[in-house]
Amino acid sequence: MHSSQRDFHRVVAIDGPAASGKSSVARELARRLGFVYANSGAIYRAITWHLLEKGITAEDFDGVVQALESASITSCLLGGESRILIDNVDPAEHLRDSRVNESVARVSRLPAVREIVAKKLHDNARSDDLVVEGRDIGSVVFPNTPYKFYVDASPGVRLQRRAAQGERDEIALRDHADSSRPVSPLVIAKDAHVIDTSHLTVEKVVCEILARLKETGLWI
Ligand code: CDP
Repeated sequence: MHSSQRDFHRVVAIDGPAASGKSSVARELARRLGFVYANSGAIYRAITWHLLEKGITAEDFDGVVQALESASITSCLLGGESRILIDNVDPAEHLRDSRVNESVARVSRLPAVREIVAKKLHDNARSDDLVVEGRDIGSVVFPNTPYKFYVDASPGVRLQRRAAQGERDEIALRDHADSSRPVSPLVIAKDAHVIDTSHLTVEKVVCEILARLKETGLWI
């Protein structure tokens, strides 16, 4: 194991496709464990929003690299959650704008962007125990954590959940882009515990995860 990975605190990885219920589950799980909650999708969204504000498209690779090199990207803790600031602005209220929904999968396939996000999450894991949600947390960002979960739900249920949030979001397009990209695609890590949440409440999913964590000794 690389020495920097030995410096990490405990990390619970929650991966899964769009609208699978990851966020509610990860946030509640973090609260119950007393761990910090980190949403990697929110970091990809914040970077996407920043690039859109600057008028830079994901296709303008040099422009993206330049914009990210000159931006100050920091994180802070707010109510047990890790939040991202870009040039000291917290873009939280813009993260689910439809223009961000439309562009985030194209931005997040760029290796330069993925490197920055992984580095931020590694920095977080050096100071706190974490529950991290995303697409490649168990497979790529924290491959050595023994605590990996993959939450899924049927396409129909995921569509309903997104519609109930009142969002315009083409999740099938995003799923396809996320699963078919060459760099860090959405995959089920081979040692992840898979949970189909189609017919489960958030509480039930959290309880199932806590029961698994109890078996591993992470939670008593
Ligand atoms: O909308 P939803 O909560 O399902 O997605 P999200 O977690 O906010 O992530 C938004 C987008 O960021 C995804 O569709 C991916 O394109 C990208 N993402 C990624 O590539 N890798 C991650 N670890 C997390 C998100």
